[in-house]
Amino acid sequence: MKLLLIGYGNVGKAFRRLLHEKKDNYPILQGVEIAGIITRQGLMVGDKENFSPDKQLTVLEAIDYINPDVIVDMSVPNYKDGEPSVSAYIKALSRKIHVITVNKAPLALKFREIFEVAEKTGAKIGFQGTVMSGTPSINLFRIQPVAEVSRIRGILNGTTNYILTRIYEGLSFNEALKEAKEKGYAEEDPTLDLNGFDAAAKLTILSNFIMNRSLKLGDFKFKGITEITNEEIRRAKSEGKKIKLIAYADNYVVQVSPQIIGPQDPLYYIDGVENALEIQNEIQRIIIRGPGAGPINAAYGALSDLVLLLEGCL
Ligand SMILES: NC(=O)c1ccc[n+]([C@@H]2O[C@H](COP(=O)([O-])OP(=O)(O)OC[C@H]3O[C@@H](n4cnc5c(N)ncnc54)[C@H](OP(=O)(O)O)[C@@H]3O)[C@@H](O)[C@H]2O)c1
Repeated sequence: MKLLLIGYGNVGKAFRRLLHEKKDNYPILQGVEIAGIITRQGLMVGDKENFSPDKQLTVLEAIDYINPDVIVDMSVPNYKDGEPSVSAYIKALSRKIHVITVNKAPLALKFREIFEVAEKTGAKIGFQGTVMSGTPSINLFRIQPVAEVSRIRGILNGTTNYILTRIYEGLSFNEALKEAKEKGYAEEDPTLDLNGFDAAAKLTILSNFIMNRSLKLGDFKFKGITEITNEEIRRAKSEGKKIKLIAYADNYVVQVSPQIIGPQDPLYYIDGVENALEIQNEIQRIIIRGPGAGPINAAYGALSDLVLLLEGCL
């Protein structure tokens, strides 16, 4: 099975390392080879640790050149139009090339369009790494079949949860943000995390997949943490409560917004960069928690998709 990797940054490098580590011990991975890696600098043919482009090709041209069995998208999200990933997925899927992605933008913008192409050809899409990285969220639903989900609720953004936790513990917003940057939990430009956009992109993907919606980013309201004052967080604390940025979807409402919650709520106990998701289906309520980011975690999300694909479980 030939892979074309799109993007070779933190996650791409972690994915390559993890694949090599696991290949020796897991026979199912032995036939897998990285046939090429494409970045903005061009295509590197074959599987080498240090990237240096061999050909000046675009992502779409690289698909023609390599003719992979699977493309693994670990490139940066482009929330304007999802390109070049959207076109790459459509091209790949229409040729029955499978897609594995940790990149949220294409699925948050064009979920139905992309899945319609896959349904026509029978190609598969793995996207565990787009929501909660390596903590099973998307893939959990693959093993909870025919139980209709009526509600999902979660803390899906580690950066904002870290900042809210540290303000609760006594820091100011600016101190908490600075610390989050120093620890690598926040990007240099954290706007998409702070304004709720990242959590909204994840909620869009989850709702479409789990609740069979046809949402696009922008179809529902989202609010981040920038308007919460330290005073509000301290007042909540004095009442034994916390403010959390909650992503919520039921059959009528889809939203991301800060909520005041008390100790009877399982999300109250999710602190720091941890993520959690509560799923109510017609049979039972499930709560999962775990890391929502980190290169190795996102890489594991993609690798777990690859193994599920090889096992015929995607
Ligand atoms: N890091 C995490 O903890 C984490 C967790 C979950 C999901 N993710 C997702 O994983 C993806 C990668 O994250 P990262 O941290 O690895 O980012 P990164 O270190 O910035 O690397 C991004 C890679 O994408 C490539 N790229 C950007 N635009 C491209 C384009 N138009 N065509 C081809 N390649 C392109 C870059 O190429 P150049 O080197 O040429 O610029 C670079 O190799 C993102 O979608 C992110 O949201 C990350």
